[in-house]
Amino acid sequence: MESRTSLVRLLHEARRDIAAARERDPSAAGVGALGMLAAWPGVQAILAHRIAHALHRAGVPLLPRAIAYAARALTGIEIHHAAQVGEGLFIDHGSGVVIGETAIIGEDVTLYQGVTLGGAGFETGKRHPTVQDNVTIGSGAKLLGPIEIGHGAKIGANSVVVRDVPPNSTVVGVPGHPVRIDGLRVEGPDTDWIHLPDPIADAIRGLSERVADLERMVVELGGTPPARDPENVHQLRPVQGRNPAGG
Ligand SMILES: CC(C)(COP(=O)(O)OP(=O)(O)OC[C@H]1O[C@@H](n2cnc3c(N)ncnc32)[C@H](O)[C@@H]1OP(=O)(O)O)[C@@H](O)C(=O)NCCC(=O)NCCS
Repeated sequence: MESRTSLVRLLHEARRDIAAARERDPSAAGVGALGMLAAWPGVQAILAHRIAHALHRAGVPLLPRAIAYAARALTGIEIHHAAQVGEGLFIDHGSGVVIGETAIIGEDVTLYQGVTLGGAGFETGKRHPTVQDNVTIGSGAKLLGPIEIGHGAKIGANSVVVRDVPPNSTVVGVPGHPVRIDGLRVEGPDTDWIHLPDPIADAIRGLSERVADLERMVVELGGTPPARDPENVHQLRPVQGRNPAGG
């Protein structure tokens, strides 16, 4: 009876995972369930994990680990067989994703390639992140330690997150900091974590201003104005966002 319940649960979870991939991957339009099982590494890895996790919970030795190992070899996605994964997880592209043993993932979470839900060092016990429902984690983001990622949060590509993340926030940078909470820009002193000071760009800008002053003086002293190639003048300031001067 118990094995029948597990099978029903497994089929239900697989259906939800395939539906999640179809909803969130524009390139899956018109692809049937079999096509997705055959060609979507994220779907394959999650299905393999669900089987491995069910066997692990049933106390079967070795096989869960072997399934996780085979899934990793096939998809490039490593999900520890003991990790708790909620329904509707979608892993886009897959390769390079690592989900650690004590990670907990809520429902309808999206992970892009290269995401790590890992430990921060050599801790024991709960040492991997807990990700609540409806979280999106951008490619290459590293979430380290037993931190909590609040529901609806978005983690920017390539961020390194080592602290709890508030619900409905956007976190970017290394280390990751909230730049939006409930859709609003985070204001206050020292809260601009995007436009950090760039001392090298500042030094180059200072030098080019001095060269311009010297050129002006040469012209004033009767010299020939230097030839300029406007195509070679690069704007050092970011094209969007606030002026980084002063940090
Ligand atoms: C973070 C992200 C989810 C956008 O979330 P959002 O809540 O809509 O945030 P916004 O786009 O309004 O960006 C907020 C600010 O963070 C900056 N930002 C966004 N993503 C960033 C990142 N990864 N690193 C650094 N800064 C980033 C934006 O430039 C913006 O700056 P501003 O305040 O000067 O305008 C998105 O930028 C991202 O990184 N998505 C991952 C997608 C991905 O991995 N794709 C791979 C497909 S294969």
